[in-house]
Amino acid sequence: MNVRDSEHIIAELKEKENYTLSNDASNADLILINTCSVREKPVSKLFSEIGVFNKKKKPGAKIGVCGCSASHLGEEIFKRAPEVNFVLGARNVSKISQAIKEDKFLSVDIDYDESSYAFGEFRSSSYKAFVNISIGCDKKCTYCIVPNTRGEEISIPADLIAKEAEIATKNGAKEIFLLGQNVNNYGRRFSDKSHKKMDFSDLLEMISQIDEVQRIRFTSPHPLHMDDKFLSMFASNPKVCKSMHMPLQSGSTRVLEQMKRGYSKEWFLNRALKLREMIPEVSISTDIIVGFPGESEEDFKDTLDVVRQVRFEQIFSFKYSPRPLTRAAEFTNQVDPKVASARLQQLQELQQSILDEISQKHLNRVYEVYFEEKRDNGMLAGRSDNNALVQVEGKDEWLGEIKKVKITNPKRLSLYGEVVI
Ligand code: 5AD
Ligand code: SF4
Repeated sequence: MNVRDSEHIIAELKEKENYTLSNDASNADLILINTCSVREKPVSKLFSEIGVFNKKKKPGAKIGVCGCSASHLGEEIFKRAPEVNFVLGARNVSKISQAIKEDKFLSVDIDYDESSYAFGEFRSSSYKAFVNISIGCDKKCTYCIVPNTRGEEISIPADLIAKEAEIATKNGAKEIFLLGQNVNNYGRRFSDKSHKKMDFSDLLEMISQIDEVQRIRFTSPHPLHMDDKFLSMFASNPKVCKSMHMPLQSGSTRVLEQMKRGYSKEWFLNRALKLREMIPEVSISTDIIVGFPGESEEDFKDTLDVVRQVRFEQIFSFKYSPRPLTRAAEFTNQVDPKVASARLQQLQELQQSILDEISQKHLNRVYEVYFEEKRDNGMLAGRSDNNALVQVEGKDEWLGEIKKVKITNPKRLSLYGEVVI
């Protein structure tokens, strides 16, 4: 989502203000830092980055801070770093033209409605097009700062989404990547009350009817909203790639209640195992937080149990980080950081052993791979439909093409193979 926000900012500056992109900070007229605030680490990094850029920049060049930390810290950024010229929060991206012109411009309103704003066209990849389908988030997961930085959830009108997908595919993208905090809650609220009633399954159907779209991916869906209608649409639509991100967060029903996730361990297992049953080749990835306040050894064992049962193809795992403006930061039963670190390590070791087993099942399989990148090692890299990273020795003209690849050497994090057609 941050990548897409950056693309929107670049598009506005290029189209309306005549800027061009530079990768040399010491030569730039404007330095923009787009920020995350979901854990504490990126926030502390922000101020050291500002210092680095302030030393590097040429005289008169401006520094702007954008994104979720801008929303959350607001005015404080000017106090701690007076060299910053403007602060532009997430969800205020369309004000970038104004921001670069006014002295000490500050706009961090989380009620600002950009859901119908038609941003200019800029994409960092010509193969894969990120398309936002909603802004904000209505959930109030007790550990999460996002509702306080991105505001309430508003769905982007379906015709705007379709138009963006059409333009991107006309420009060569074969893959549309739909983005939102909670994509399968699409249609919950539109700014225009007369907007046709539509849910996420309907939206996927609509995008898949665009001829040039060959692949559709999305992130993040919420396990709570994975009803049967959604799962069967996911399973049956051939353009929808068969990889699902299912953020578990914890395997303990008790902790899930404290997190206000709205589902139980059993519901999550039921949905994940149903997916595996419906689509044998599906890959499932997840996010897990360890050391949430009050997490006992028993609770953590429930998390390990879900990991063993689902056998995720990929896990993003984090140590709980108390965030300002969140309810869990006030909980008095915080877990000792040493205990949390040990649990994180245990979880990651379990996952490594599962990955060692899973990766072998790919040997000699043939996958359709969409080549998107030439790597530093000289190999072409792309993703299979079910999101495995695949690398081959190949020709540059295969970039942007989908080809069949036979896997000859499966490793934990990447599969190596040969193009067969
Ligand atoms: N501490 C640790 N991880 C967090 N996440 C969100 N908030 C926190 C927090 N306070 C993780 C969740 C989410 C992912 C994007 O970041 O797992 O799914
Ligand atoms: Fe944060 Fe929960 Fe919303 Fe995800 S669903 S952005 S974790 S509040």
